[in-house]
Amino acid sequence: MIYDNHGRPITYLRLAVTDRCNLRCFYCMPEEGINFLPKPHLLTFEEMLRMIQIMGDLGISKVRITGGEPFVRKDMMQLLRSISEVEGIEKINITTNGVLTAPLVPELKKLGIKSVNLSLDTLDRERFKEMTRRDELPAVLKTLDALLENGVETKINAVVMAGKNDQDILPLVAMTKELPVSVRFIEEMPFNGSGLNEAAFMSHIRIISKIREEYPSLAKIADEPNSTSYNYTIDNHQGTVGVIAAFSRTFCGTCNRIRVTPTGTLKTCLYDDGVLNLRDLLRSGISDSQIKEQLIEAFTHRAKDGFEAESMRSSLVSESMTTIGG
Ligand code: 5AD
Ligand code: SF4
Repeated sequence: MIYDNHGRPITYLRLAVTDRCNLRCFYCMPEEGINFLPKPHLLTFEEMLRMIQIMGDLGISKVRITGGEPFVRKDMMQLLRSISEVEGIEKINITTNGVLTAPLVPELKKLGIKSVNLSLDTLDRERFKEMTRRDELPAVLKTLDALLENGVETKINAVVMAGKNDQDILPLVAMTKELPVSVRFIEEMPFNGSGLNEAAFMSHIRIISKIREEYPSLAKIADEPNSTSYNYTIDNHQGTVGVIAAFSRTFCGTCNRIRVTPTGTLKTCLYDDGVLNLRDLLRSGISDSQIKEQLIEAFTHRAKDGFEAESMRSSLVSESMTTIGG
């Protein structure tokens, strides 16, 4: 296992397999979308697999597949199957918007995928349409049903913005009464093509106090190690609720994760602007052990937290989440 220069083990890769998406969430990209990357700029599945094998050797044991929307990339199931066969990789999770996912759930389950994060910011069809600029709530709810029917652990991620969907917090919390889901509210981050929408920012503290007003039995539970969420139970609810202080960055001290963007850029923090061009290395003809050395070099020069990473950037944070991997 590799430890970084702040004593944190690096065990978790978040791999964004595409920057394309079939939604246009307003906090992620502008209405017209972004300039999506030409295909040759993206890592191929072969390159991803080689990279994951190398990282598996270095002690990475968990991979999250994210995007963009992973399932808009062709042959995703084939990639997932191949990753599940890589030595050392014990856990594969997926983050999806659920538009195309419902029919794939039984196969995901067969592949050993035990946990899926479903992005869902509102249960109101009109507001869903406003926020994502697509009328796909019914398809997403089908995915939620399929996940629960197949016994896949389900976490719902909801980005919260004051004046946009803060009225959706309580209905989403109410879902946890009957459903064994974990609903996590995420602070908005400036990754949207133009920078933070400060007027709408709602901190994790404000989100929790709003929930507590309605549910006084809200009680903190122990979080999993390296968790980025603070989690709570409510009396007589089957599910749990949580907050992710993605902008306040309160969880950096136990961060075990690295990211690889769709173009193969390694990020050792969400807030850095890329520390290694893995795609060029993978295409350069050098050996696995030479790539390993460069990875170790990057892993042992990590910023201590998201604020330090942000201060070391050459440009302000404004790139779309879809080019990074959520
Ligand atoms: N701020 C916070 N979360 C974001 N996501 C996308 N853009 C942002 C942003 N600007 C979230 C999505 C999804 C995950 C992949 O990242 O809602 O849950
Ligand atoms: Fe797509 Fe996710 Fe961005 Fe929404 S937040 S546009 S679902 S990548």
